Amino acid sequence: MADTGGSPRSLDLLEAIAEAEASSKALEPRTESCDQWTASTVRLGLDLTDRMHSLPAYRAGLPAENIRSWPIREDGYALDEALRILASTVFDNGLNPASGGHLGYIPGGGLYASALADYLAAVSNTYTGIHYASPGAVQMENMMLEWLRDLVGYPATTAGHLASGGSIASLSAIVTARDALGIRSDRIRESVIYGSAHMHHCLRKAIRIAGLAEAIRRDIPLDADYRIEVATLREQLAHDRASGLRPFLIIGSAGTTDTGAIDPLDELADLAAKHEAWFHVDAAYGGFFLLVDEARGRFKGIERSDSVVVDPHKALFLPYGTGGLLVRDGQKLFDSHHYTANYMQDALQSVDELSPADLSPELTRHFRALRMWLPLMLHGTAPFRAALREKLLLTRYFRERMREMPGFLLGPEPALSVTIYRLDTPTTSPALPFPTAWRASCSEHGFPHSWQSQPRPRVVSRG
Ligand SMILES: Cc1ncc(COP(=O)(O)O)c(C=O)c1O
Repeated sequence: MADTGGSPRSLDLLEAIAEAEASSKALEPRTESCDQWTASTVRLGLDLTDRMHSLPAYRAGLPAENIRSWPIREDGYALDEALRILASTVFDNGLNPASGGHLGYIPGGGLYASALADYLAAVSNTYTGIHYASPGAVQMENMMLEWLRDLVGYPATTAGHLASGGSIASLSAIVTARDALGIRSDRIRESVIYGSAHMHHCLRKAIRIAGLAEAIRRDIPLDADYRIEVATLREQLAHDRASGLRPFLIIGSAGTTDTGAIDPLDELADLAAKHEAWFHVDAAYGGFFLLVDEARGRFKGIERSDSVVVDPHKALFLPYGTGGLLVRDGQKLFDSHHYTANYMQDALQSVDELSPADLSPELTRHFRALRMWLPLMLHGTAPFRAALREKLLLTRYFRERMREMPGFLLGPEPALSVTIYRLDTPTTSPALPFPTAWRASCSEHGFPHSWQSQPRPRVVSRG
């Protein structure tokens, strides 16, 4: 007999559903609660932005009451209490890159307009994996990528995606290079990857994750300006070819993490073309300096690369979680990342717009384009250009002031906004006392804060 919906069993079921529904209603707060919550959250956010510049660059130590002191429980906490816990256990310690005392070079301030964009991205929960689900959002991401493409000087064939950061963007680039050049398991051991000792470690990691750990890797020495020594690379390529090996990938940096150096990209492009190798450029940090007229020439050759990573969460000042990958021949990126499945059959491919899910490892993802689009719409490009120019000028000013101070040695002329320096003392040894003392002072006073590195066997500080 058909169930009429009125049987005792179904009535019990309806009662249970109503009970569960009533209790889950907390997840959909009423407008008044939303208003209150929004006001409290925004107050905290504005307070943070007001204080950020004057707070120490680093505050060491965790309070005795840390985040674990308030366990997740069945009935939850009031929002104001949760915000208080958050402020005291998370926001009040660690690194504050937006502080006036932070001399570490990669700016990580975040933009308020991006924060508002993130709010709208989360409230709307716009699905940006496929064009069918949100044509407008996918169009926005593609528009942002076209803006990056034009900045780099790539052609219309370019495709890319906004990733969570430079590491994931680099991984996609390496996988695309591997597939485009047909480096399958039987060819890995004869394939050679060229970079410098200052190539960012995310690329070494990407090479390993992409299954290329057994490829031959050549760390080409650096010249006096910490750039890849092109003559040595040229010789190495010729030698490898003569030995029956296959030059597969040349990686150049447009702004290294150690010293901010830009490799001679044009010459690397020549060598890649000659040896039919893939040419990848890591411009994660340096790329946005292309916006500054007087710096643009230093990137000559970037437009000839096969793939490039530029991170908006570095020198475009966006909040963390925004990387960018561009591949000159977009079809190759698509070939490495496109997939279909039976449950995807209704998500028809758009003829007009490529979908991020076909161009990246992700399917469901944050609406990242919005946090880039809103500030660019609101501010235009002029203040970004000016902010980057200011960083270049500040670096010059820093060096001029350091030159006036006795006892310091400055590294080579910086290509961008990183400059290296160290204390010039007879006691200077690889375990240099100066940066250690410097860092100790940073921890104690939280100001100023710079990062140390070891570009040559000595430790130096970077500002
Ligand atoms: C030059 C360079 N490349 C790549 C990366 C990795 O980017 P992410 O930290 O966004 O994964 C960094 C990060 O500091 C970097 O400085």
